[in-house]
Amino acid sequence: MAEFSLPKNSKIQPGRHFPATGATRTRTFKVYRWNPDDGRNPSTDTYEIDLDKCGPMVLDALIKIKNEIDPTLTFRRSCREGICGSCAMNIDGTNTLACTKAIDDCGKADKDVPVYPLPHMSVIKDLVPDLTHFYAQYASIKPWLRTQSAAPPDRERLQSKEDRAKLDGLYECILCACCTTSCPSYWWNGDRYLGPAILLQAYRWIIDSRDEDTGARLDDLEDPFKLYRCHTIMNCARTCPKGLNPAKAIGQIKQLMLARHG
Ligand code: SF4
Ligand code: F3S
Ligand code: FES
Repeated sequence: MAEFSLPKNSKIQPGRHFPATGATRTRTFKVYRWNPDDGRNPSTDTYEIDLDKCGPMVLDALIKIKNEIDPTLTFRRSCREGICGSCAMNIDGTNTLACTKAIDDCGKADKDVPVYPLPHMSVIKDLVPDLTHFYAQYASIKPWLRTQSAAPPDRERLQSKEDRAKLDGLYECILCACCTTSCPSYWWNGDRYLGPAILLQAYRWIIDSRDEDTGARLDDLEDPFKLYRCHTIMNCARTCPKGLNPAKAIGQIKQLMLARHG
């Protein structure tokens, strides 16, 4: 059987260790580090955190590390309440949001908490993935209300309560990319497959009663790669930190495709 191994310069090395002195209740975070400027291999640094002097979430621990232990650690964050999506990363083996993931929920208390960037994306530095292609795919679905009317109305475009309810489970998506980067189909074909997050967003506009470009939106997805590379693997629904189900939205797009072909 053929054996493959990673190129030497991409093998992750053990990194530095930062002990917590004088602490009685600690948790160790094993954090992926890579700096494009130092020419070294990626490594995992370990930081012991004094839990009595840290907030309850993994993001609190990362901010404590950056503020008090190692200011070189690089990660994204903004809202710290699960709204902006910027702190998405792989924590304890699962893609999730660092700001809503409790340290107590990261496996057994005596085990290290592994923290890595979102999988299968190019890394810019440490925990920061390059989402350029992901955002370009989002732009490609033209995620705004598209109308055919000559002139916009003088007031808001109204929706019935029933039509508004169709957006539930869709509008809550914060485009964190946890689902897309958990999808093996996206790992293999991410250059052309849109992935669960962008397809959920596409469906959000397809199903919006105020949008008048449904046919063109479906035409655009009628493609062997953009939509049909979803093989119902379901990692997306399992990992979404907002509890959404992109697989269901993809299934609903496929049903609309079938219906228009009779
Ligand atoms: Fe994030 Fe969930 Fe939206 Fe995917 S569906 S981008 S996991 S919020
Ligand atoms: Fe991927 Fe979810 Fe489909 S994990 S294959 S997008 S069901
Ligand atoms: Fe905004 Fe975590 S910091 S979602």
